[in-house]
Amino acid sequence: MSSARQSFSDSKVILVVGASSGFGKACVELLSQLGHRVFGASRSAQLSQDHSVRDETAWPKLLTMDVQNENSVGSVVETVIQECGRIDVVINSAGIAYAGSVEDTSMAEFQDQLDTNFYGVVRVTQKVLPQMRKQGSGLFINISSIGGLIGLPFQSAYSASKFALEGFTESLRHEVRPFGIDAVLLEPGDFKTNMTLNRKFSKRNTPESIYYQACKRAIETTIAGEVSGQPPEYLAKKVVALIQCNKPAVRYSCGPAMQRVAAKAKGWLPQKLFEQMIAREFEQKN
Ligand SMILES: NC(=O)c1ccc[n+]([C@@H]2O[C@H](COP(=O)([O-])OP(=O)(O)OC[C@H]3O[C@@H](n4cnc5c(N)ncnc54)[C@H](OP(=O)(O)O)[C@@H]3O)[C@@H](O)[C@H]2O)c1
Repeated sequence: MSSARQSFSDSKVILVVGASSGFGKACVELLSQLGHRVFGASRSAQLSQDHSVRDETAWPKLLTMDVQNENSVGSVVETVIQECGRIDVVINSAGIAYAGSVEDTSMAEFQDQLDTNFYGVVRVTQKVLPQMRKQGSGLFINISSIGGLIGLPFQSAYSASKFALEGFTESLRHEVRPFGIDAVLLEPGDFKTNMTLNRKFSKRNTPESIYYQACKRAIETTIAGEVSGQPPEYLAKKVVALIQCNKPAVRYSCGPAMQRVAAKAKGWLPQKLFEQMIAREFEQKN
């Protein structure tokens, strides 16, 4: 992977969605340092204190976007096209994570989860595709999760949103390849980001719930993995490599080796054995 700054002709126009924190923020910072013209979008449109007072002509440019709102997505995409005339790469990193049993998670909570992690990506993709088709090129990097390959206990809404993203991206690739457009899935294991602090617990997940203790054990396992995980800058380097890749494959994993092996093992271990392994990892009785 080259860390050299791009010349203007090599520099790409990149839209990072979910740019204020975690993976998105790390991608914005690294890709701008490399000389790309980067637009970072999120509801708060801020990277950190250092970026709050900005030179309007400097990169990265930060824009306000709520992926749950189609008009908000559309207006950001329009701004990027007006300013640069093209969009080369979209990194879909906006995400939230709910925790709680299926029974304790309300329909509104399921919908909120899917509306951000899945329909958010659909909205962005639909708004960007006409421009990419016009240019005859483009790349979507969709941040999925190991939880998009393995159903995580007490994260059914989160896993469902990422499984949906996996199927969506696989389908999309077939449709857009004739137009020179690519889409890839990047599947992180546990990383140290604000996802841990931002995790939402379903409102009915109270000590009175029959699932409360089992949920607590499972989510404590997840949180332990996250707080001891790699920083998001590690994933940003993988994103840079993907942008430079000529013909990327459909999916790439990133993160703790054990989690990456576990995701692969699902394909060849006997199903019952694999389930027992996951139950043991998340301290579930079965
Ligand atoms: N950290 C991990 O261990 C891990 C593992 C696997 C996958 N992932 C995935 O990686 C992605 C990024 O997560 P992260 O770990 O970087 O978490 P994070 O630090 O909490 O960042 C989440 C980002 O998503 C943005 N976002 C949330 N809701 C949004 C909305 N409605 N519209 C626009 N932006 C929104 C947030 O910005 P605002 O709040 O300003 O809108 C923030 O920039 C997510 O899709 C997550 O599922 C994370």
